[in-house]
Amino acid sequence: MSDVPFGTRAGSPPAMPRRLRATVLGVSALLWLSGIAWLVLHLWFEPSGEFGPLPHPWEAGLMKVHGMVAVAAVFLLGWLGAGHVFQRCRSARNRISGWALVGSAGLLVFTGYALYYSLGAAHTGSAWVHEWLGAATIFVALAHWLRIRRPE
Ligand code: HEM
Ligand code: HEM
Repeated sequence: MSDVPFGTRAGSPPAMPRRLRATVLGVSALLWLSGIAWLVLHLWFEPSGEFGPLPHPWEAGLMKVHGMVAVAAVFLLGWLGAGHVFQRCRSARNRISGWALVGSAGLLVFTGYALYYSLGAAHTGSAWVHEWLGAATIFVALAHWLRIRRPE
């Protein structure tokens, strides 16, 4: 009888439970897609009105979805911080992409909530960082998730 608990490999932390993995991937995809869809409509598809461009009719709905999913994302980040990140922080594998993901998620949370509570230059700066960092984070996430361990 082996001393290694079921579902683990000797010397390595247990794999992420399937449901948690599916939830993290689903929530992250929805967050990114709602943000990027809003950005594309905002930059290239706003109808022009008498006094300049008007918001695209889908922008408000997309931001409602994004704001709601963001709450779930912050909850999950806390969960992963206590489990996954804590368990993996000493392993060399996925370390760079993992910490890059922690850094971008932290900045996205900070700038996302700053959009509610800042005005003027601070609001414009937060919006700019949030929009472009958010769009680019897909590459960090893909770098992290494309190297996951497959069941043996
Ligand atoms: C944990 C990660 C994230 C959190 C907590 C978050 C949170 C937020 C919040 C609270 C808002 C304001 C919502 C509103 O005005 O009702 C917002 C806006 C926005 N978010 Fe995110 N977000 C995150 C990730 C992302 C990602 C990955 C993208 C991808 C592109 C993104 C793109 C946007 C855009 C384009 C806006 C509108 C910005 C503006 O008003 O100028 N966000 N986000
Ligand atoms: C916000 C931060 C992070 C998120 C959202 C995240 C998310 C994930 C997800 C969803 C997986 C796939 C799990 C699976 O399929 O079993 C994964 C794998 C992995 N992550 Fe992270 N991670 C984060 C930070 C980190 C950090 C900081 C490290 C290490 C320093 C790390 C190391 C790893 C490793 C080694 C794997 C592969 C695990 C395996 O193959 O069993 N992650 N991560």
